[in-house]
Amino acid sequence: MTYHAIAIDGPAASGKSTMARALAQRLGLVMVNSGAMYRAVTWKILDENIDPKDTAAVIKLLENLDMVCGDDGLFSTISIGGVNPEAFLRRPEINENVSTVSAIPQVRDKLVKMQRDYLQRTHVVMEGRDIGSIVFPDTPFKIYIDADPEVRNQRRSGDGEVDSVEKRDAADSSRATAPLKVADGATVLDTSELNAKQAIEAAIEALKKQGFPILEKAKKKAYQPVEEPHKMMRWIYWLGWLGFGAAYRSLFGLRIVGAEKLIRSGPVLVASNHQSFLDPPLIGNLYQSEMVFFARKTLFKGIGKWLYPQWNAIPIDQEKPDMSSMKTVIRKLKEGWRVLVFPEGARTLDGEIGKAAPGVGLIASKAGVPIQPVRIYGADKALPRGSGRMRLARITVVVGEPIILTAEEFKSYSRKGGYEELTNRIMDAIKEL
Ligand code: DC
Repeated sequence: MTYHAIAIDGPAASGKSTMARALAQRLGLVMVNSGAMYRAVTWKILDENIDPKDTAAVIKLLENLDMVCGDDGLFSTISIGGVNPEAFLRRPEINENVSTVSAIPQVRDKLVKMQRDYLQRTHVVMEGRDIGSIVFPDTPFKIYIDADPEVRNQRRSGDGEVDSVEKRDAADSSRATAPLKVADGATVLDTSELNAKQAIEAAIEALKKQGFPILEKAKKKAYQPVEEPHKMMRWIYWLGWLGFGAAYRSLFGLRIVGAEKLIRSGPVLVASNHQSFLDPPLIGNLYQSEMVFFARKTLFKGIGKWLYPQWNAIPIDQEKPDMSSMKTVIRKLKEGWRVLVFPEGARTLDGEIGKAAPGVGLIASKAGVPIQPVRIYGADKALPRGSGRMRLARITVVVGEPIILTAEEFKSYSRKGGYEELTNRIMDAIKEL
């Protein structure tokens, strides 16, 4: 079978990823983020304490690099030396060094080959800098996205990222090998004045004009994310996960928005608003592997005394600040677990988001792990506080972009008032969803 490739190129923060992700979902292809591959190699170089400017050392590392690029049915995945580096790829030190690394011809040779390999087994929409010019020059389906530098800078800082977009563009456009440029036959789309939806419609129009056989949605592969096998669920956790998951989907028409933003492996502090007793298993169902929760101390009685620890619940005393449970959570995160916290502590009384205690800022700052903001809608209607009766209300969970901080940033939050500041930052990210 011949597989199709859609090439999306453009400068940093032009909206390529959003576009490619949406096209993959709409048209039933796999979205491949080629920038993530250059970022992953950069991460490995820095992780090995190699100077990215030391080309000889970088080439040596490449020789034995155990890098595997795959996909989970919808998005590309990367593993380097058995580690999924996803959570680290947008750190400032990666933004700072990735252009140097991606200018090395040997790095490009290796990654371009891996990028072309995708077409052996699936349709792809691949985004990057040289996809239409070098990786798939023969594909008729090419889009070049652009936007004003000012708009792009705003978009990047809106993501909470430290990134010098112009500096990176200058380096990416002026390098000798495969510089960023409009590929022959590409349709140029300026998205400065467009919102995401309009940009995607414009891209679909352009693809139709280029003769793209709009694939049937039905042919789309079921989205089955692959997660770390060593965190396979134990049967007792699985039973709860399955039971609650089935109930949510059938009773409350559970809808998840932004699932592609979930960090699916490695330690993550998941911070959510709190509406009802339904919330912890609701968040647990976003993932295909186990995670850690908090539960009220008073629930650890009778069968609960046995069952809650089986479901990885850590008892917490809601009456007073509970340092021992905080310490347990920080330890769990450091061990690599994903942990759910409700910064507000108690469930909402009126559906609105309440004030947060500074605990979550403290946990995040001490553990130094990525933070994933999540917002729940409708659980307060499905099981209102003070009522034992469930109603058939629709529940929606919205997943936000992860907040990924550097070690220095984490450290800066440990000063006086810092935990509160970080807590507020997390709460604002939840409120925005
Ligand atoms: O798309 P991005 O901003 O995540 O890409 C990160 C860097 O990787 C970018 O500054 C240049 C490099 N890159 C590249 O050289 N060729 C590609 N096809 C994709 C990215």
